[in-house]
Amino acid sequence: MAATRPVTIAITGAGGQIGYALAFRIAAGDLLGPETRVRLRLLEIPQGVRAAEGTALELEDGAFPLLEAVDVTTDAERGFDGVEHALLVGAKPRGPGMTRADLLGDNAAIFVAQGAALNAAADDAVRITVVGNPANTNALIASAHAPDIPASRFSALTRLDHNRGLAQLANAVDARVDELDGFAVWGNHSASMFPDVSRTTARGDRVTGILGARLGGPDGVREWLVDTFIPRVANRGAEIIEARGSSSAASAANATIDHVRDWSLGSTGTTSAAVRSDGAYGIPAGVFASFPVHAIDGEWVVQEGFEPDAFARDRIDASAAELVAERDAVRALGLL
Ligand code: NAD
Ligand code: LMR
Repeated sequence: MAATRPVTIAITGAGGQIGYALAFRIAAGDLLGPETRVRLRLLEIPQGVRAAEGTALELEDGAFPLLEAVDVTTDAERGFDGVEHALLVGAKPRGPGMTRADLLGDNAAIFVAQGAALNAAADDAVRITVVGNPANTNALIASAHAPDIPASRFSALTRLDHNRGLAQLANAVDARVDELDGFAVWGNHSASMFPDVSRTTARGDRVTGILGARLGGPDGVREWLVDTFIPRVANRGAEIIEARGSSSAASAANATIDHVRDWSLGSTGTTSAAVRSDGAYGIPAGVFASFPVHAIDGEWVVQEGFEPDAFARDRIDASAAELVAERDAVRALGLL
């Protein structure tokens, strides 16, 4: 639903590469639609603030009709004052050879402080999207430090993994991405994630059937999933770091836009987001795990009706166990 009043949106890490890509998409109306005016708060640390100020100058030069105001700040409570959306991007990215969990030591403290600042300053209706890695566990940390904000208002980005899976699958079955439905990514935004095609359809037909006809039946499909599709999606972030020399930026910003737009305006069909588990599908309650979801009336709703077989169960359990281990590591650091 388009708002007639301006909506205030904070982007943390606005001087970084994802923040730069995000700000212009939001100013152009890609997030909340062509009728909703926006006010941007660009939050940075002192080392990044000049870059964010530069972004603010360029935003002004864009003469975006929907952009009402841009404020740059290093003060989190000021940055989050009255915000309805907070996009928590600001965090260190990984380099070649690192896992995202290696970032916990550096990044976890950021989300302690930002959870507390959101709790103190954000609008009652705030929705918080965590992008900075390790995104799932950072969402857990921020939520734990914002006791007055319902945990359902926090989610972490696995839409990029979802989009990556959709694109690979569309190629494999000669369909357009918007002809696919029922695809979902489970678990952690890490190499353990499980991209699940079991309920995916292309133009109404099961993709497992389409692939089976091309790959010699169910065994051929299983082999393709294990050897090609799952590792390609799960390791795409590392593939991009190898190719670009830095981590994904425009595709990450695009996925963030998709995630927040669906959350606010409603989704069509199944998508993926990391939300706080209530124990659904056997994923331990409390961790932020990626589920098949849709968005209704501004809430993520975990989709019912998936029936993970033994193959899926093993992978979902392994990714959930990794999330539990990350939670325990954060507890050991005294941050939960
Ligand atoms: P970047 O280094 O280009 O930018 C990060 C920015 O955050 C920097 O300008 C830095 O000054 C700022 N920053 C650091 N601490 C901050 C704080 N406390 N408050 C405000 N700003 C702060 O990195 P990037 O490429 O934009 O990536 C940002 C994060 O997003 C990384 O952790 C990266 O791994 C993650 N990421 C996640 C996904 C996903 O799908 N979840 C995808 C891509 C990247
Ligand atoms: C991605 O998936 O591209 C990001 O999480 C960046 C990374 O570290 O892989």
